Order: sequence, then C-alpha cells, then structure tokens
Amino acid sequence: MKGGERVAVCAGSFDPVHNGHLDIFARCRSIFDRVVIAVLHNDAKKPLFTVDERVEMIREQVERYEDCRVEAFSGLLVDFMGEVGATTIVRGLRAVSDFEYEFQMALMNRRLDLAVETVFMMPKEEYSYLSSRLVKEVFFLGGDLRGLVPQAVLERMAVEREAREEAKR
Ligand code: PNS
Repeated sequence: MKGGERVAVCAGSFDPVHNGHLDIFARCRSIFDRVVIAVLHNDAKKPLFTVDERVEMIREQVERYEDCRVEAFSGLLVDFMGEVGATTIVRGLRAVSDFEYEFQMALMNRRLDLAVETVFMMPKEEYSYLSSRLVKEVFFLGGDLRGLVPQAVLERMAVEREAREEAKR
C-alpha cells in the first residue's frame, strides 16, 4: 500500500462474473483509491471456467479503470490481502439469505487477521436476485440473460456449451 491509500479487495469465485458483480466493483471504486478483484482458484468446486478464464473475463470488463486490477488467489484470503497491501474486504450483500454465510466469513477473517474489516455493499435492486449459480442454470436451460451478464461472458458461455455438447456426441 502506498502511504494513506485505501485499498479494497473484492473477493469471489466469479464463475462467471455477472452485472451484479460489476455494479459492486463500480461502487467500490467510488469509495476506495484502488480495487483488487481477487478470483478464487477453486478447482475442487469444479467451476465452469478455469481461474485464468475467469480472471480474463473480468479484466475485459474493468481494463479501462486504472484503479482496478484482477488477480487469481489460492489459500487464505487474508494472506493474499497482506501481499497486496489491503485491509478491507468488500462483499456484495443481496438478501437476508446471504447474511449468515457472510457474517461467518467476516468474523473468521477478522479472527485470522485483526486488521481486516469486511464492508458490505448492496447491488442495484435489479441485480439483487442474481447469482453465478442461477446464471449457469438459466443459461444451460436456454433462458435469456441479456442485461444481466456482459455480452462477452455470454459468448464464452456459448462456446463452453458448444464444447460440452460436442464432447457428448
Ligand atoms: O463468490 P464466493 O464463492 O462466495 O466467494 C467466497 C470467497 C472466495 C470470498 C471465500 O471462499 C474465500 O475467501 N476463500 C478463500 C479461503 C479462505 O480464506 N477461507 C476462509 C474465509 S473465512
């Protein structure tokens, strides 16, 4: 961290990134000097996209912002934060149902590193029901996701769907 700079880490799986995430990144930029988007390397969860693909898709969306960078991480989030000089985690909070999981993570992260604080931000109402899990489900069942997911991400998902269908043949 450069002297006095406020650095936030937006951490998540982002499998894939959707407009609710982009909305939170934008809100974050209005409060913090720098935003590090930290993409979890979580092969055990069998993600749709590799961590490199997820990082690349987010970079495409934020490359015009000099105050944003996108990095993959594995291991403890608090350790990654030490490496990038951040003490604030920003998480989007959509509904009460998110609260318990987020509350547990926030307190555990603070227990792991007393300097770490978690800040919650609410996305635009129109994205308040959106999750990567639902995006994948609706996409693979043929639903229309325009306006909820960046076009470039939808195109990658279509390529992935084609590859999966090809593998089945
Ligand atoms: O988008 P997600 O899957 O809800 O994000 C969860 C994430 C990546 C923030 C969380 O799983 C995480 O921080 N994982 C890294 C491992 C870690 O630090 N675990 C202890 C957190 S309490």
